[in-house]
Amino acid sequence: MVYGVILAGGIGSRMGKAEKPKQYLLIGSKPILVHTAEKFYIQKRFEKILVMCPKEWISHTKNLIKKYIPDADSIVVSEGGETRNETIMNAIGYIEENGGLDDDTVIVTHDAVRPFVTQRIIDENIRLAEKYGACDTVIASTDTIVCSDDGHKISEIPDRKKMYQGQTPQSFKAKKLLELYRGLSEEEKEVLTDASKIYVIKGEKVSLVEGEVFNIKVTYPYDLRVAEALLSEGDDIC
Ligand code: CTP
Repeated sequence: MVYGVILAGGIGSRMGKAEKPKQYLLIGSKPILVHTAEKFYIQKRFEKILVMCPKEWISHTKNLIKKYIPDADSIVVSEGGETRNETIMNAIGYIEENGGLDDDTVIVTHDAVRPFVTQRIIDENIRLAEKYGACDTVIASTDTIVCSDDGHKISEIPDRKKMYQGQTPQSFKAKKLLELYRGLSEEEKEVLTDASKIYVIKGEKVSLVEGEVFNIKVTYPYDLRVAEALLSEGDDIC
């Protein structure tokens, strides 16, 4: 079975003084989270779509889903975790409690604040996660990446042809991800913000899905303006 997991458990501190977490801010006439949930709802392979949000926002989120996607019985709202990876683990916990977890269960995890994901990207995530066990969505880096160990001097300039920027979805066989996560030390858990890195540090392979430049993550106030512009281009981009 394949589950969509929309990660909406963060508070959006880099957005500054917003009155609500950024996933609830409007672009066009709808909250960002709703745009994202709609993209997942179109994909019929999902057994369920889990929207993981902060505890105090659960009832608000349920109301939003009811309002904007009225017949969406397959969308479930549940509690996120302290960190992004804990939010993913809570989603796997939900699947397990509801009898959906076996060796082949795939989760397609996606940032709630990337509302411009396409059906092609979601389809390829499902296909590669089923085939290889794990995949990550990336785009080739357009800028040269400069590494600095101390923030003052360059320590390395890696070959740009090998550099990619990570996006989401990131998709995994859920049971395997859970096992690898449980094998991490507490220190490793603290520094690992990225789910694919759990595979990488354990020496497991993660395949690449080609993302899109417009599959942006709304992080700073500036991104809201970009998102408004992308939305007004409508179907041309996604
Ligand atoms: N996220 C989550 N659970 C957490 C933290 C983050 O589900 N405990 C989600 C966010 O809601 C977001 C996605 O992960 O959709 C990407 O994370 P990021 O952009 O870093 O979101 P925030 O943590 O909310 O933002 P900030 O780092 O600015 O506080």
